[in-house]
Amino acid sequence: MNARILGDTLSLIIDQGEDGLAHLTWFGPQADEEMAAAPVFQRLPASPDIAVGPTLLPEHGRGFHGISQVEGHCAATHRRIRLGQPELIEQDGQILLTAEDAALGLTVRTRLYFDGDVLVQEGSVSNTGAHTLSLQRAASLLLPAPDWASEVRTHAGAWGREGHPVTHRWTAGRIEQSGRSGRPGFDGGPTLSLTETNAGVAHGRWLTVHLAWSGPFRLAAERATDGSGQVLAERLFLPGEVCLRSGETLDLPAALMTRSAEGSNGISTRLHARQRRQGRSMRRPVHFNTWEARYFSVAEADCIALAKGAAALGAERFVLDDGWFKGRRNDQTSLGDWTVDADLFPNGLTPLINAVHAEGMEFGLWLEPEMVSPDSDLYRAHPDWVLGWPEPDLATGRNQLVLDLALEPVREHLFTVISDLLDRYAISYLKWDCNRDLYPATRDGIVRAGAQTEGLYRLLDRLRARYPVEIESCASGGGRIDAGIAARTDRFWTSDATDAIDRLNIQRAAGLVMPHERLGAHVGPSPNPMTGRQVSMSFRVLAALFGHFGIEADPEKVSEDDRRVLTRGIEIYKQHRDWMHAGDLLNLSEPDTDPDVQLVRSDDGHQALLRVMRVGTPMRPLQSRLRLAGLDPAARYSLSEIALEGTPIHWPLGAFSGAGLMNEGLNLDPGRALTGRLIYIERTG
Ligand code: DGJ
Repeated sequence: MNARILGDTLSLIIDQGEDGLAHLTWFGPQADEEMAAAPVFQRLPASPDIAVGPTLLPEHGRGFHGISQVEGHCAATHRRIRLGQPELIEQDGQILLTAEDAALGLTVRTRLYFDGDVLVQEGSVSNTGAHTLSLQRAASLLLPAPDWASEVRTHAGAWGREGHPVTHRWTAGRIEQSGRSGRPGFDGGPTLSLTETNAGVAHGRWLTVHLAWSGPFRLAAERATDGSGQVLAERLFLPGEVCLRSGETLDLPAALMTRSAEGSNGISTRLHARQRRQGRSMRRPVHFNTWEARYFSVAEADCIALAKGAAALGAERFVLDDGWFKGRRNDQTSLGDWTVDADLFPNGLTPLINAVHAEGMEFGLWLEPEMVSPDSDLYRAHPDWVLGWPEPDLATGRNQLVLDLALEPVREHLFTVISDLLDRYAISYLKWDCNRDLYPATRDGIVRAGAQTEGLYRLLDRLRARYPVEIESCASGGGRIDAGIAARTDRFWTSDATDAIDRLNIQRAAGLVMPHERLGAHVGPSPNPMTGRQVSMSFRVLAALFGHFGIEADPEKVSEDDRRVLTRGIEIYKQHRDWMHAGDLLNLSEPDTDPDVQLVRSDDGHQALLRVMRVGTPMRPLQSRLRLAGLDPAARYSLSEIALEGTPIHWPLGAFSGAGLMNEGLNLDPGRALTGRLIYIERTG
């Protein structure tokens, strides 16, 4: 039996051979489908006499030693789980695969379908037997890897510098991207790519897998000694975490997979399209956020003054960050006590919100609902509500503990507290922060890391069903960026680093999976509070322009010259955001190269903005031509430079064909260190 599903341009074919196993015979462009073929079987010396290469729902016991779909055992009988041959059904554009361990009573279901050109795999594991089953693994996605994959691309990072791309040669064994901290973390989250050697942003084959899950995860590429490979995405089970009792079903997080023959740009445009279909579409107002302007020192009169200053610069939303609630003056107290501090805001938040509205802005508020400070009324009332209970001397992180969101009363309390704020005040936006990892992720010594993530999802889903409020996912910056949280939020704070140079790389890494309009990008102060670097206002504005634009600096401290640049930058953002936020963002330079070059192109192909950011002093200052991408070779384009300073604002650069711009390239002086250029490209014929 042969089952086939179609994406926009990709297709997937599974063949159930005479051996009864489900073989992936094709995952690639529909146009090349005639090349689909069952894996070749060679009887290798010292190997099984039958074909044992990776299949769908693979299983040990027939000579296959790779990763199997489900791993676990029954403590009562000591039997290990062993799945039988899967049943394969094609139905309404979906492929359903079901396999059973009839002896133990376990059913594994998986569903594959395309969303655009993104393959989605969802599944569940059900205990239909009499005994509790202990699971070590239940993969969301486990597929044979393409034979052209010779490199694995992952990310590594740290607070303030999230998501450095890492390339591994994949010759043998396993390469893994995993996280046990309970948040996806600063490493770039649950994403892993397979590529051909030297594939880049605009060329070469890529296959990328992403897990829609904000808890512990594992993605891996593993190659067996016969050369065949597997790619894996799964929720990572911590010791003893998943004991499936009789009658219970565990739903697995969805995994996404796509491939491209046009480098990582092809991957991101496909994933962005899927994320946009899943998310809410909205105009992205210019933010003003109080954090780097005031840190914890917020109070009514001062915030009203900040709001006036922000509005004068062109901000459209004022976000009151940390420091506004009862007793909070630093990071050592008060998380959990989500009532307005009466000394700082004697009349509640209403006077500030009225002032924000009077300036024509919306109001947003920072919260960190999952956390509690040991020095808080909430903790004093409910010390047993924290993860780790009842261990003594729980380790704090940023002086705080984590509330156990698997507990229904905790979720109910948080829902009530947040609802009170949303009912009382005109809050259109929440910055939802999460500033520490889960340790220990236990209750009574029993692991509940996944339950924490599920509890968070439930709380967010319930709030979103009741309130139209927009939510930003922040976790000490970009510590929680994944498609699981993306289904429940509208924006990501990608980093605490507002240093424009670091931020170029951070936005780029987050942008592999998430569309640029969801990635907050703010103009911070100079010198930057984190790195001390001094960077011109025009560079800072350009660095933020392709994301969801905002300001993080005290308007009073912005010089007159910088003000002119910033306000012009904001006007440019407002003028172009609607088409930029629905268009494709293409990288034209490889990561960590200089200049950093990106182009954002409108959906209809009629306009584009090219951004060239010169970070350092090049070894050879006369650059070669800049070859563009994403244009129609047969069309003609008129190019003009947009100046952030001086007049005129538009400088004509000439008219060229798409073919000329892409094949020969634009002859453009990329300028000196720490300058950027912005070119508007308009299709004229
Ligand atoms: C971490 C966030 O990333 C910052 O932007 C800020 O909101 C602080 N937390 C507040 O404590």
